[in-house]
Order: sequence, then structure tokens, then C-alpha cells
Amino acid sequence: LASTEVDISSIEEGQSLTVKWRGKPIFIRYRTQTEIDEARAVDVATLKDPQTDEERVKPGKEQWLIQIGICTHLGCVPLGEEGDYDGWFCPCHGSHYDSAGRIRKGPAPLNLELPPYEFLSDTLIKIG
Ligand code: FES
Repeated sequence: LASTEVDISSIEEGQSLTVKWRGKPIFIRYRTQTEIDEARAVDVATLKDPQTDEERVKPGKEQWLIQIGICTHLGCVPLGEEGDYDGWFCPCHGSHYDSAGRIRKGPAPLNLELPPYEFLSDTLIKIG
């Protein structure tokens, strides 16, 4: 299936849903304001893979972070709500991703990849 539609209406703030797209896990996270604020307070120049929080979400939908759930090191699936930066932690070799999915510590070279997606409505997204 080239694209998949996901109803996000049942995800509550601070919760995540994992769906499959092209055989890959997709992490859909409804971020809290604290998580957004933390991600935006970071000095981008200090990042290994410099990207602003704004570049990782859609304008006006910054509470929704939608990422491919595959560690950019060697492909394990990171754990959510883990690690030192209120984001994800990959237990395979200890990579920490922040609340914008950016690599902050450990061997992974890049931020979690973002899939192509769009909002069809406030509660429906199309991935792919
Ligand atoms: Fe995630 Fe190595 S595969 S840290």
C-alpha cells in the first residue's frame, strides 16, 4: 500500500500511536506543551543533525510529531518516553533522541526520519 490513512482522534495529549507504513513503524506522538517548549529551547547549532523543531512538524500542528520509528544507527526500533531528552531511546547501542526526534547522544548519526504525510482534517492524516 503506497499510503495509509490514520485516525488520530483517540490519541490523547502525551500519548503515542505506532502504525505501520510500507512495513516500517511510524510513531505518531501528540506532544505536550512542555515537550514542544523543550524542543524549541535547544540551540540548533549544538545538534549533530541540525534541524529546528519547526522543520520537523507542520505549521499549526506542532503538537503532532510523526516519524519513522527506526534508529538511524543500525535500524533498531527506539523506545518512546525514554532517554535523557524526553523523547526516544534506542537500547541497541544507546542513542537518545529528543522530544523532536533529533539525535542528542549516542552513535546514531541522524535525526529520526520523517515520512511524507499530510493532514486531511484535524483528526485524519495520510502517510505516504
Ligand atoms: Fe539504535 Fe544502534 S541501532 S543505537
